[in-house]
Amino acid sequence: TTTTARAIIDLDVTGHRINRHIYGHFAEHLGRCIYDGFWVGEDSAIPNVRGIRLDIVEALRALDIPNLRWPGGCFADTYHWRDGIGPREQRPRIANTNWGDVVENNHFGTHEFMDLCDLLGADAYVNGNIGSGTVQEMAEWVEYLTRGDDSPMARLRRENGRDEPWKVPFWGLGNEAWGCGGNMSAAHYAEEARRYATFTHNHGENRLTRIAAGANEDDLDWTRVLMKSLMDCHGCTLYGNLPYQAISFHYYTHSGSGINTEDAVPFSDEKYYETMAYAADVERVVRGHVAVMDSYDPDNRVSLVCDEWGTWWNVEEGTNLGFLFQQNTVRDALVAGLHFDVFHRYARRLSMANIAQTVNVLQAMVLTDGDRLVLTPTYHVFEMNKGHQDALQLTAHVRDLPTTRVRGEDLPLISMSASTREETALISLSHLAVDADCTVSIDLRGRGATVSRARVLTGDDASAFNDAATPDRVAPRALDAVLRDGMLTVTMPPHSFATVELELE
Ligand code: AHR
Repeated sequence: TTTTARAIIDLDVTGHRINRHIYGHFAEHLGRCIYDGFWVGEDSAIPNVRGIRLDIVEALRALDIPNLRWPGGCFADTYHWRDGIGPREQRPRIANTNWGDVVENNHFGTHEFMDLCDLLGADAYVNGNIGSGTVQEMAEWVEYLTRGDDSPMARLRRENGRDEPWKVPFWGLGNEAWGCGGNMSAAHYAEEARRYATFTHNHGENRLTRIAAGANEDDLDWTRVLMKSLMDCHGCTLYGNLPYQAISFHYYTHSGSGINTEDAVPFSDEKYYETMAYAADVERVVRGHVAVMDSYDPDNRVSLVCDEWGTWWNVEEGTNLGFLFQQNTVRDALVAGLHFDVFHRYARRLSMANIAQTVNVLQAMVLTDGDRLVLTPTYHVFEMNKGHQDALQLTAHVRDLPTTRVRGEDLPLISMSASTREETALISLSHLAVDADCTVSIDLRGRGATVSRARVLTGDDASAFNDAATPDRVAPRALDAVLRDGMLTVTMPPHSFATVELELE
């Protein structure tokens, strides 16, 4: 069967800029994300640049990855940065108590992370330790990274081989302070965040966007307490400087029964639709946090950051429970498509998002096995959508679309968003039905346009994935897109994600 949907896009009515940092990434000392992921070491037979795996760098560069968050996650609140500098063989070994309770050798530290960011062409998002670290420790880390003169920390950095200060635009003030970051109350954390932020200075030309550790999902009270504390801060309002500039939240997708309770593959149609409904519900969550922030900060001085999002399934059989290694299917790709549509719509307040996590952990871009590397279906969504980075919102009004019932509610089976930059436009579509095609007719108004490229991503079924034997089972293919008299028509196969790129007249 074939269903239909229609939409209207005014190509000449633009909205807010979609911050490219919405396409950000996250790499934690967790499982095989850093060690046996990004980091193979200089002596590895796997091609590497100064110990960093080359094929991963090349794959990620093709995504134009804008920023990378590190070193956690929960790990961040146990990490003491001085353990990870100086000659590698002299660095202490530490236990990773959050993830698998494994011992690591600290060979990947500050210099290696900044080298990775340079290789990727990505901005650094360093997440500091509030849970078990001191204010002085955090202040000195910022100084070490970003100060140019001969201050004590700048000297120490030079002794370790780096002359110039680095640029670090993003700084995390702890992580999940309500949980692994210290089990704090919102009120207590609000004070801590203000105090730590006060001593993370802007050195030289470096300007930090300090990000307070935010809510779990729709815990709007957490955001409310932080916003109130920020706006009531006497000294901050006196001097016109807010101690931190952004508040985060985390949103993990599953099929409704909790993280880490369902397999990545296989799954039933029912679980598939429940997953789609859970992913689409990020819109309610973002809208809620934005409404709270609007009420305290109508001038948009503080931005919202979703610095952990993505699916969280059971680990693959036979792998370490603490390593969070999971398969990645067409279902995961559609979860990503739905999130980006929402993120684009809330671009006024949402300044950044980071998928968890880039390599071998949770909803990864790439999975590695020895020297082999596989691009996941999710990777392709990031690649197909990269034209939205720093583009201007266009509103897609979707009408008369198919729906299905999930847990007593209607789930729209078409999701769409669009943007424009220079003389181009990009339209993204997700079609969620498992058993029908959908012909979508889009009335393009305001400017003439021609199709420069249309691509679709899907598989034989929603549980299709890539592996070393069939790395391109789920990969973008050409899609027929007809544009006549301003009416763009595409037919989306079941469980598919598509992008249409336009040249504007
Ligand atoms: O991404 C895995 C973990 O999920 C992070 O360490 C933590 O912040 C969250 O609970």
